[in-house]
Amino acid sequence: MTKIISFANQKGGAGKTTLLMLTAAAVHKRTDKKLLVIDSDPQQSVKTIYKKEQEKGLSSYDVFAFNWNQAQPEVNLEKTLTLAKRKYDMIFMDVPGNLKSVELYHSLVQSDIVIIPIVASILDINATIGFLTYLEDMAKEHNKTWEIFGVINKKDKTIEHALLHKLSGKAGMQLFYSAISNLVRYRRLVSTATEIVEPSITDDEFNQYFDEFRKNCFI
Ligand SMILES: Nc1ncnc2c1ncn2[C@@H]1O[C@H](COP(=O)(O)OP(=O)(O)O)[C@@H](O)[C@H]1O
Ligand SMILES: [Mg+2]
Repeated sequence: MTKIISFANQKGGAGKTTLLMLTAAAVHKRTDKKLLVIDSDPQQSVKTIYKKEQEKGLSSYDVFAFNWNQAQPEVNLEKTLTLAKRKYDMIFMDVPGNLKSVELYHSLVQSDIVIIPIVASILDINATIGFLTYLEDMAKEHNKTWEIFGVINKKDKTIEHALLHKLSGKAGMQLFYSAISNLVRYRRLVSTATEIVEPSITDDEFNQYFDEFRKNCFI
């Protein structure tokens, strides 16, 4: 069955779009899964890069920018996803970080799995606790459960390990062992058509993350 995976957290800058795009390129290049990325963020970062790369004739996974400016967008989103599930093996959703936004809310209602990029600083960890509380409340309200995975992003030498304990288990979130460092390559080379890392380099951190992603999310 096609799984819908949202890359989400509260506030901007945690790396939702970056981690989604890195993961999507690896799924597209390394597997035979048919992937659709739904850009649910009004900023349309994925769609913009996708369009430029399509104009250059590069081959990517499919990207669809969902139009939220309509009456009852959630009804249309559900219909869109029902149709998309017939054609695609996996669907990723890029969502905004605003907890009050309908885009985030309705995307999460439709999701099976939530991937949460987490920056290990006091402010970001507090924001993540807020987001996990939001998920707990939503789970109660909708009688719904997700598989929730946390991925440390922008890791540097001063990772706040003590603070990360506050997160473990909250809303049922499981923290990945692997982490993504704060590196220029992730900022500069993000693409819908090409991969950042050679898949064959087994000790590369991204490849280790992707192995963990595959084990947990390729159902
Ligand atoms: N691991 C990383 N290393 C370096 N820069 C990163 C990393 N992850 C994200 N960034 C940068 O941080 C900024 C915010 O990332 P983005 O993916 O747009 O976050 P979000 O979608 O959560 O708002 C962007 O400039 C992006 O290039
Ligand atoms: Mg984003």
